Amino acid sequence: MSQPLRILGISAYYHDAAAALLEDGRIVAAAQEERFTRIKGDSAFPHHAISFCLDTAGIHESELDYVVFYENPLTKFERLLTTYHLTAPRSFTSFVEAFPSWLTEKVWLENEIAREMGLRKRIYFCDHHLSHAASAFFPSPFESAAILTVDGVGEWSTTTWGVGESNHVELREQIRFPNSWGLLYSAFTHYTGFKINSGEYKLMGLAPYGQPRFADRILDRLLRLGADGSIVLNQAYFGYSGGLRMTNERFHALFGGPPREPESRITQREMDLAASIQLVLDEGVLRMARHVRTRTGLDQLVLAGGVALNVVSIGRLASAGVFRELWVQPASGDAGSALGAALWMWHQKLGHPRLPAKPDAMRGAFLGLEIPPASREDDATLEKLGAVWDVLDEAALQQRIAASIAAGKVVAVARGRAEFGPRALGARSILGDARLPQMQSHMNLKIKFRESFRPFAPMVLAEDARDYFDTTQESPYMLLVYPVTARRRIAAADAGLAGIDLLKVPRSEIPAVTHVDHSARVQTLDAERNPFITGVLRRFKQMTGCPVLINTSFNVRGEPMVNTVEDAYRCFMATEIDCLVAGNRFLEREQQAHRPLDAEQRAQWLQRFELD
Ligand SMILES: [Fe+2]
Repeated sequence: MSQPLRILGISAYYHDAAAALLEDGRIVAAAQEERFTRIKGDSAFPHHAISFCLDTAGIHESELDYVVFYENPLTKFERLLTTYHLTAPRSFTSFVEAFPSWLTEKVWLENEIAREMGLRKRIYFCDHHLSHAASAFFPSPFESAAILTVDGVGEWSTTTWGVGESNHVELREQIRFPNSWGLLYSAFTHYTGFKINSGEYKLMGLAPYGQPRFADRILDRLLRLGADGSIVLNQAYFGYSGGLRMTNERFHALFGGPPREPESRITQREMDLAASIQLVLDEGVLRMARHVRTRTGLDQLVLAGGVALNVVSIGRLASAGVFRELWVQPASGDAGSALGAALWMWHQKLGHPRLPAKPDAMRGAFLGLEIPPASREDDATLEKLGAVWDVLDEAALQQRIAASIAAGKVVAVARGRAEFGPRALGARSILGDARLPQMQSHMNLKIKFRESFRPFAPMVLAEDARDYFDTTQESPYMLLVYPVTARRRIAAADAGLAGIDLLKVPRSEIPAVTHVDHSARVQTLDAERNPFITGVLRRFKQMTGCPVLINTSFNVRGEPMVNTVEDAYRCFMATEIDCLVAGNRFLEREQQAHRPLDAEQRAQWLQRFELD
């Protein structure tokens, strides 16, 4: 039998480095570097992720046919140079700081990748938004679809739309740097005291507490919003194109003061700012989608790019019914572009046909490192750590997980292949009972070590989704926000409360996953993509009548999701998680020979992670 053709896609050097491997067009493996190095959002060359991909396929680097990088370094360099000319001398400092690293690492990237990998073959480059577009369309279930990619910035593009048809994607229009929906949202992320590139979720979670009283000011002063969703940002208010700061004094004056100090108290002003920028983004996304719908005449839309992870805007787009169906790439950030770049090479450059896969080609996003049901190596690792466990068959394991959760326990699951992308979908997840009002604060304080104004996200059996949420379509990758149905809501006695206290008042039968505006970031579970966890939830429903669980990522604040059995056990012992599932092993906290970490040990352990 002849060897399959192998393509490796890489993203690196910006944020969220990743690698993805295709064999004859099939996605064999994809993972982010952070999961291996334990550095959140690691942007370094993804040596570990590449090794993992090669190991999964059982091949050596020399057996790769193509290596494709997720952006075009020369075009990006041109953008940096041009921006420098336009804004000099204001931008001189940032240019001087950025230039040496560009010269050594980026412009000569081809040599760099060859050197890092010890390869002598040609490296190919796929334009950044084309990588996003390819990651959105090629794995989607659609024969043809409109494509929308929205992020901070690639080479020049910050937003593009186009069409995917058969084995080809074509981008037709773009918004160019410095006009950018992603950078606008990041500017508000920075201004409200959160970290750019990871705090955007927090800003979004804050919006339901606020009133959009700044929305008019944003629309009048900061930007010009076109009927087609295009924007022109008034650069007089921003610092990013000529310096290293997102916002400047004029911006601060416009919104009544300096940026919030990170970690300081969140006030009503930040909540109102969050609500305002969310409203403006929602409107922009809706206008773009209507424009693209009109211009393409297509019924399906696929999305990627960091802004496609704004589940609120995308949920509103889904509810507005502009397109009949949406599909969002689960790894919509730059990690997913590693996959997109590889798919672009396979279909578009090499001309291989595309056979739309049902339900899609992402295999549930379970493309990362595997924790198998049983392995001697994992047994040895756990023994060394002093772990004590029972081994159960799959059915008994599902039953025990469901019964533990029904008894009010918190169960962490590390089993099967890890998720590719930012969401835990059941392979590296912490599960709990969504019906318990105190679960939100218990899991936040005792397990994730944070106080959060965000509720947890629910997983629900696909067949019961409409009973609990006003869904318009399935959401297998937890990428759409839907309201809890009226019949599942309860009247909330929250008069006189404000801020995070509002979240403590039950608003539905599943309070731990219901936001203050009744919204929920829903994951619909089906047996095809996720047979094991679907089995757990079916048993939980038999026991309790409720087809919903809390599903949050298996990590603590500031840490990437756990990857290996060792990561899982250490995180389990450092927190107050009651039970751990590692492969087919079931571990109870009380049975562990070692005492859980005391407060001081835990503080030391947590210090390893950068707290954001
Ligand atoms: Fe991007």
